[in-house]
Amino acid sequence: MHAPAPVPAPVLASRRRTLAIDVLRYDPQAPASQPALQRYLLEEVDGMTLFIALNEIRERQDPTLRFDFVCRAGICGSCAMVVNGRPRLACRTLTRDLPDRVVLAPLPFFDLIGDLSVNTGKWMRGMSERLETWIHEREREVDITRIEERMEPELAAAIYELDRCVECGCCVAACGTARMREDFVGAVGMGKIARFRLDPRDTRDDGDYYELIGDDNGVFGCMSLLACHDVCPKSLPLETWIAFLRRRMVLQAADPFPSGG
Ligand code: SF4
Ligand code: F3S
Ligand code: FES
Repeated sequence: MHAPAPVPAPVLASRRRTLAIDVLRYDPQAPASQPALQRYLLEEVDGMTLFIALNEIRERQDPTLRFDFVCRAGICGSCAMVVNGRPRLACRTLTRDLPDRVVLAPLPFFDLIGDLSVNTGKWMRGMSERLETWIHEREREVDITRIEERMEPELAAAIYELDRCVECGCCVAACGTARMREDFVGAVGMGKIARFRLDPRDTRDDGDYYELIGDDNGVFGCMSLLACHDVCPKSLPLETWIAFLRRRMVLQAADPFPSGG
C-alpha cells in the first residue's frame, strides 16, 4: 500500500502585525496641554491605510483624537501629516509600507488646530490672494455669443498638469526656506504662478509676475533644496516649474523692457 500523498502546506496567510502608532498630541487652546506622544496599539488588516487606522483608533479607542480628512482619495489634500518624519497624505499611505512603529505629527509651519489637524486652508488662501491666483482677463464688453478661444491640446495638458496640485501643504512643510521666511510662497505658490504664466487667457506679463515672486519670498528665496519635489504626493514636477520661473525672472531682472519699450 502506498503512503498517503503529503498534504501541501497551506498558503501562508498574509503577515498580521500589531502596529504601535505614536501620535504627537497637543491642544494649543488648552493652557495646561503639553505636547506629548500617545501610543495606540492596533491590529493591521489587509489594505489598511493610515486614514483607516486613525479612524479605527478614533472610533474604538479615543474619540478625542483630532485629524482631518474629506475625500479619502488623495484629492482634497486635507489629511496631510508627518509620517515617520516625512510629510504624506494619510489616505494614500498603506500601513504595509511602514514599519511596526509609526510616529505621526502635524505638518509644521501651518497653524495647529490640535493633534494632527492643521489649518492649511488659511495659509493657502492668504498665499492665493497675495499672488492673485486667478485669470486676469483683458477688460472687454461682455459678448454672450463669444466662444472661448481654442487652446492647443499640448498647452491645455501642461496647464492641467499644474492644476493637479491639491494644496495639501506637504511641499511647504518639507521646505527649509519656508521655516526661515514666513512669507515664502513655497513650491505650491510658484506652481500657481507657473500655471498662469502658461495660460494665454491671463494678460499679465513677466513684469507683473516679477512683482509677485521676483524676490526672496519667491523664486530668489528658493535654495533648490528640492524636498518639495521629493514629498509631493501628486508627483508634480516642482523642480521644473521653479527652474522655469527662475529663468523668466532672471531675464526680467536683466531686461525689464525686452521689447525696447
Ligand atoms: Fe501638495 Fe504637491 Fe500641491 Fe505642494 S505642489 S501643495 S505637495 S500637491
Ligand atoms: Fe524649498 Fe523646494 Fe525651493 S524645498 S527651497 S521650494 S526647491
Ligand atoms: Fe482627501 Fe486624504 S482625505 S487627500
